[in-house]
Amino acid sequence: MKVLSVFGTRPEAIKMGPLVKALGEAPDIESIVCTTGQHRAMLDQVMSLFEITADHDLDVMVPNQTLNGLCAKLFERLDALYAQVRPDRVLVHGDTTTAMTAAVAAFHHRIPVGHVEAGLRTGDISRPWPEEMNRRVIDVVSDFLFAPTPSSRANLEREHLGGRLLVTGNTVIDALQQTVQQLDRDPALRARADAPFQMLDPERRLLLVTGHRRESFGQGFLDICRALAELAQREDLQVLYPVHLNPNVQGPVNAELGHLGNVHLVPPQDYLSFVRLMQRADVILTDSGGVQEEAPALGKPVLVMRDVTERPEAVDAGVVKLVGTAPTRIVDAVNAALQQPSHATRFDPDASPYGDGRASARIVAALRGHPLPEFATGHRSAGPVPTPLQEVTP
Ligand code: UD1
Ligand code: UDP
Repeated sequence: MKVLSVFGTRPEAIKMGPLVKALGEAPDIESIVCTTGQHRAMLDQVMSLFEITADHDLDVMVPNQTLNGLCAKLFERLDALYAQVRPDRVLVHGDTTTAMTAAVAAFHHRIPVGHVEAGLRTGDISRPWPEEMNRRVIDVVSDFLFAPTPSSRANLEREHLGGRLLVTGNTVIDALQQTVQQLDRDPALRARADAPFQMLDPERRLLLVTGHRRESFGQGFLDICRALAELAQREDLQVLYPVHLNPNVQGPVNAELGHLGNVHLVPPQDYLSFVRLMQRADVILTDSGGVQEEAPALGKPVLVMRDVTERPEAVDAGVVKLVGTAPTRIVDAVNAALQQPSHATRFDPDASPYGDGRASARIVAALRGHPLPEFATGHRSAGPVPTPLQEVTP
């Protein structure tokens, strides 16, 4: 069976990395990888960490390109690729423009599509934008729906879609587990990951920040920067912010925060270094989907700069809190989270509501026609999941 995995952005590469490795080890699968290059620098970092090489690279990245321009290029190049490779199945991940176009282009070629991380929903087509539309479209055209959690399965069941359903856990937990294991067994690797961050003061608490959502461009990012500037006045705190390469993020963040002493703006980090930073952080402030899934497995509290999330599990457990982008809410929530003691840094596979490190194995087994038992959250231990976040009193 010829399986073509198509991905193009940093989070897709992180979450497809362990799966591509597992596909490569399956005796009866010919695994072919196509990267679209929707992200360039940020993708290459991850490919080398997971030792994945691309058989095809569509090289579509152009600085600050429009979504329609990106779609047009992707459809044209994927059309030619599918005609050339003629895969038995295409695998896509999540909700990016790469994933949506790869799924629809495969549908047009009548190639079956497997959707990894199927069934996430906010219920609001404009948040996140355009991802909520992308993932709904992908689920409609897929014949195999790999739902990460029981709640994503329930979303798909409500929509009465045609694809076969399997709850697999999220492959991000496979990626995190493998990366933490590498860091744990190799002190030299840990030292290398820490080396660029000598400027961090061990006496100060660490707030780790990431942000890139398109619906926050403009006023949203200005508000986030205002909140960070205010928090940076705390003498016991330091802010570390790997800034996403999107010019709509780089512009305001560098202009508003570049001059502040204890706000460290750094380039996007390779995955290993970023996992190490999550381990060192006291509180994580983010709008990222992947970070919301990873941090609870490391026992870290997460404040999410969004009003809705498609990942309700950790919110329900009280360890992820939605804080929007209004400066006062962000500042109050970070201050409240910092009142709690520092948290665990070790990975506990039983602590995550998102996966147990075996999602890739389940997906490969299902593709080979020998499905394994589904991922279940019922027996999860408390593990290093952080103390539930306190409600902020205004
Ligand atoms: C994309 C995905 C989003 C995902 C995010 C993860 C879409 C529409 N958006 O958003 O779902 O959560 O990736 O990070 O699919 N750039 C570079 N180098 C890079 C990457 C980006 O310079 O390695 C710059 C370019 O100017 C590029 C711009 O960032 O045009 C935007 O990149 P794009 O992939 O269109 O969207 P993201 O905002 O990164
Ligand atoms: N990440 C990384 N380096 C960074 C910031 C994030 O490797 O500097 C990882 C993070 O651990 C997570 C993924 O990138 O696995 C999330 O990517 P992003 O926030 O860009 O996208 P999203 O998850 O929101 O789609």
